[in-house]
Amino acid sequence: MSAPTPIRFTRYDPKSLAEIEGHLAIVVTPEGTMDQAARSANRLTKGAVARLIASDSFAKAKTGQVVTLAWPAGLAAEALHVLVLPRRLDQATARKAGAKLAEARGSAALTVKAGNMTRAADLSLGIALRGYSFDAHKSAKSDELGEVVICHNKPEEIEAAYQPLQAVAEGVHMTRNLVNEPANVLTTTEFASRLADMTKIGLEVEVLEEAELEKLGMRTLLCVGQGSASPSKVVVMKWNGGAKDAAPLALVGKGVVFDTGGISLKPAAGMEDMTMDMGGAGVVAGTMRALALRKAKANVVGLVGLVENMPSGTAIRPGDVVTSMKGDTVEIINTDAEGRLVLCDVLWYAQERFKPAGVIDLATLTGAIIIGLGHDNAGVFSNDDTLCNAFLKAAAQEDEGAWRMPLGQSYDDQLKSNIADMKNVGGRPAGSITAAQFLQRFIQEGTPWIHLDIAGVASVKSNTSYAPKGATGWGVMALNRLVQDTYEDL
Ligand code: BES
Ligand code: MN
Ligand code: ZN
Repeated sequence: MSAPTPIRFTRYDPKSLAEIEGHLAIVVTPEGTMDQAARSANRLTKGAVARLIASDSFAKAKTGQVVTLAWPAGLAAEALHVLVLPRRLDQATARKAGAKLAEARGSAALTVKAGNMTRAADLSLGIALRGYSFDAHKSAKSDELGEVVICHNKPEEIEAAYQPLQAVAEGVHMTRNLVNEPANVLTTTEFASRLADMTKIGLEVEVLEEAELEKLGMRTLLCVGQGSASPSKVVVMKWNGGAKDAAPLALVGKGVVFDTGGISLKPAAGMEDMTMDMGGAGVVAGTMRALALRKAKANVVGLVGLVENMPSGTAIRPGDVVTSMKGDTVEIINTDAEGRLVLCDVLWYAQERFKPAGVIDLATLTGAIIIGLGHDNAGVFSNDDTLCNAFLKAAAQEDEGAWRMPLGQSYDDQLKSNIADMKNVGGRPAGSITAAQFLQRFIQEGTPWIHLDIAGVASVKSNTSYAPKGATGWGVMALNRLVQDTYEDL
């Protein structure tokens, strides 16, 4: 399992440039201008940096790229990374450059000669985000990560700016660890216990067991887990960093630890990917972790529905009718449309108990959103333009793709049932929208709400800018930013 690499900030390194071991990084502008450290590296390597700047590969190198000199003569370092960065840096460029550096260094120790770099904290966040590997289940343990040292002319300033970003990196790593974990390890019980562990960082955590859920009337949630040997649970995480009487923001996550489809069984090919079907709950957990670690001045409550969707003699059947906590009845047409059944009860419970100022749910809800938006954007559905625009802005600022989708009466009409208040599926057309319409039926009048369908972005099959293939942690940064910008009384 992985945690963000510790990063040390210092003004003077105890060693001279020539003596620094491991990997060394210097900065050169796209025009080829060297700063002080780059000039000394150039002197020590007898002009290798200048030759690199004059080369074709440098001419082709774009802003944010890393060009590496291996085993540079004149230096103790094994590798000299030349970071191509302009003097004026934006946040995303700095983070991506950090991520590139993290990739280039592998597990070697890394010293970055950042000089006066603005955004050195963002460069550090990039290093922390990209420096991730999930090797909990490999017998050959990967090499211990070497130290990262950022040499900067104002180290205290950069370190202070990095502190809340490190909290975010911790949250992202937690989400990835949960999403990457196989379902035989991350059972509902194990998931709940990892969340309960977060009392150590100041969260209040409650675990609601099946008997309590039954008492509350959460039959739609419970019916999803009734074919599994693992007990269904709802976990409530509270962070009270804001004013005593301020209504909280509620984050609600789908936590299906494995989705076989149930009696409406999924095909075998690719079913192993359904270990990530707790991705929404994973993002809620990681966000709560980030908020607690940086002591956010806001009230936020995270709720996750933890269940396993299995076929068995006790499983729910197509055609069955169940009653939700709200009281509405649902005809189960397809047991594989289980996420909405879990969420509708948790959404209702969250509103009844917390009277939240806003509700944001996250779920790997539909394959249809992958057809619509691929792996670059999550689907965003909302009944409130103000909240929705604030979220879209936060996501854009954090470089997390998000695209708003429509809602509307005619989509809702697709959910009409002959024998109950609604069906749990609306047919093939607009599958992601009818899923969102199903959820909206459980949102109370006047409650601002966003539904994020993260089926395409929670886990991907190739490397992204900030993560190796597998779980991305998408959403932790955007939600953290949203809380910071719209809920914190600063
Ligand atoms: N967990 C799946 C959605 C999903 C698909 C997530 C691919 C990640 C990758 C969800 O529970 C599901 O099975 N949805 C069905 C709904 C259908 C039966 C209406 C789907 O998308 O096919
Ligand atoms: Mn399903
Ligand atoms: Zn599912």
